[in-house]
Amino acid sequence: MNKTNDVVVIGAGIIGCAIANRLAGAGFHVTVIDQAQPCLEASWAAAGMLAPHAEMAHSIAAPLHRLMLESNKLYPGFIHDLLQETGMEIGFQQHGSLMVARGYQESRLLAGIFERALAAGIPAEVLTAEEVRQRQSHLAANIETGVFFPGDSHVDNRMLCKSLLTAAGNRGVEFNFDTPVVNFKKKSGRIAAALTPSGLVQADTFIITAGAWSGNILKSLGLEISLRPIRGQMVELAVEPQFLLPLIHSSNCYIVPWSGGRTLVGATMENVGFDKTVTADGVKHLLDAATSVVPALGKSSVTRMWAGLRPDTSDNLPILGRTHISNLILATGHFRNGILLAPITAQLISELVTGQESSFALSPFRADRF
Ligand code: GLY
Repeated sequence: MNKTNDVVVIGAGIIGCAIANRLAGAGFHVTVIDQAQPCLEASWAAAGMLAPHAEMAHSIAAPLHRLMLESNKLYPGFIHDLLQETGMEIGFQQHGSLMVARGYQESRLLAGIFERALAAGIPAEVLTAEEVRQRQSHLAANIETGVFFPGDSHVDNRMLCKSLLTAAGNRGVEFNFDTPVVNFKKKSGRIAAALTPSGLVQADTFIITAGAWSGNILKSLGLEISLRPIRGQMVELAVEPQFLLPLIHSSNCYIVPWSGGRTLVGATMENVGFDKTVTADGVKHLLDAATSVVPALGKSSVTRMWAGLRPDTSDNLPILGRTHISNLILATGHFRNGILLAPITAQLISELVTGQESSFALSPFRADRF
């Protein structure tokens, strides 16, 4: 593996694969390294929602909201290009999303999200108790209000990842899986090579896209970044998706109609380190939350459960850009939004690598902001 690349991407999740695919399309020789198999961490565990407004219930940071809206706009083109390149199905469903509320606090939070969407020029419709039931007849009787976002959608993130891997492979990207980076060789303030058990991997530019594991890799370069794993547990139910279109967000869960007769209920938010245990408490919380919104789900069979680790930063913003090591770029810390932010991240990092002017202000996402 002792060869020179234009770019080495460390971390084969959706962010790393999207960047590699884009750079390979721009003519770069790219190698992607991962300590395990590709897209099997947060990229696999996610529910694939492309619903930026609902995410505002978790972080109201304006730069994040703008970044999510921009990436959401890019999604149809991103999917279209992948379909053209690979012919692979991605499960892109454009049925909108429905946020529902009960009680004073939840209704106020929803009203605030609606105002932000309006201010950003995003189509959104406030619904009365009666109207919300016209959109989704299975909702619990105590749901008082809702907002419908017709522009929201979701993808099957696992299919999307497979398609990205195929597209990148077709463009000549090389992949080295089960290959941890154990150290780096530095020379004159730059990284000369990544050291792996299979040998040195040299490159002009190194990009770290290892999600929750990025901090450990950066430590070996003497860089401390504020990044911690936040566990999200998920439950899969055998429910025909048509039963529950569009996807639903309540204050403490989301319900996503997937392909293949599956519906996903997610997700917990737990600061428990690198622990992907599915717990009785986690599953109970999710099932209680889901059945309190759609009581009929109580009769459905539970088919699968899993947990993933979101890479969170102290301000919930991703880390995007160069570092004081001149040929090191970071694209990590996407927290709850790795799937949604993949197209804009690939575009912005590609602009950095190719020396183009950035199409989006990167300063709120700088690595040295902590
Ligand atoms: N974006 C949803 C989640 O992280 O649970």
